[in-house]
Amino acid sequence: MPVPTITRRSTPPPELPPFKFAARLDKPVFGDWRDELVTKGYAVVKAVPREKALEYREECFKWLESFPLGFDRSDVSTWKNEHLPVHVKGGMFHGYGYCHEKHLWDLRCEQGIIDAFAKIWGTDQLITSFDGGSIMLPNRTDVADGGKWEHMDQSLHRRGFYCCQGLVNLNDCGPEDGGLMVLEGSSKLVEEFFDIHGRESYNSWGPFDWYGFTDEQQEWFFERGCKWVKVCAEPGDLILWDSRTMHYNVRPSGDRDRVCTYITMAPASLLNDEDRALRIKCFEERTGTTHVPFAAIYSRSHEPVTRDGQPCPYDTGLPKIQPFETQRLLQLVGSERY
Ligand SMILES: [Fe+2]
Repeated sequence: MPVPTITRRSTPPPELPPFKFAARLDKPVFGDWRDELVTKGYAVVKAVPREKALEYREECFKWLESFPLGFDRSDVSTWKNEHLPVHVKGGMFHGYGYCHEKHLWDLRCEQGIIDAFAKIWGTDQLITSFDGGSIMLPNRTDVADGGKWEHMDQSLHRRGFYCCQGLVNLNDCGPEDGGLMVLEGSSKLVEEFFDIHGRESYNSWGPFDWYGFTDEQQEWFFERGCKWVKVCAEPGDLILWDSRTMHYNVRPSGDRDRVCTYITMAPASLLNDEDRALRIKCFEERTGTTHVPFAAIYSRSHEPVTRDGQPCPYDTGLPKIQPFETQRLLQLVGSERY
């Protein structure tokens, strides 16, 4: 399984323009879940009805079973790499056009998801990331431990609020079920951390808005009371986290599968012509992106989909079921203006 190489190098701090929404979360009290987003760095929001969320989980499994690789959800002996499309970290899927599968787009168009991001940004005129999802099967013995990858999804050069990421949880997710680990309270401290320690380091597998932390760096946060927390959630819950919050994911240690998709939305007004054109190209070519939908867009088109070092013959680069290009979808892409 190819794992992206982490690059470490020194770079001069780039000149970043002031960000219009940098103080968006600075209000002392919101009186709703945004308060937890500010104080803890994450929040869990009811976004999709439970039964509907479980139907989306079903679609995820149907997608896995649609490849002629022998995967059968009722036969544990097939829960192995050789029977599954190529993925990373025990179940994160980004290739095969998965980021544009119809059911992922249906989720992005769910009103409850849009409403939550609208509350964060103060507008419902939004665009979305074209990210993938995780389908992590329990009790797998064929997956090497890829490490924890404690990171934040925001450049160390930015100041203030920049992005809020989300994942839609599609199965019951308790302490043993794998999922998102967050370093509670870290979002409020990262700027101070880099003010003290400098911004000379560059520590990313590619995207500008990514920074990997070492064990030693984490000690500074522990000394200030930050603690690692496993976020638990129900089907249909949207887990939101400030992109400054340090996090990583864990595979299931119990008997339940972990299924989720990654969705980040931000105001369409932040798009310039160049970013808009890149997003439209990504959509038309059915390639994915990382989480930031509006700038420094990181197209996943380069990402190799390989099996044993060879191109996977089942990767057409296209979704198995194409999305319906509704007005809402095209607005979320950015090809249709609000
Ligand atoms: Fe992340």
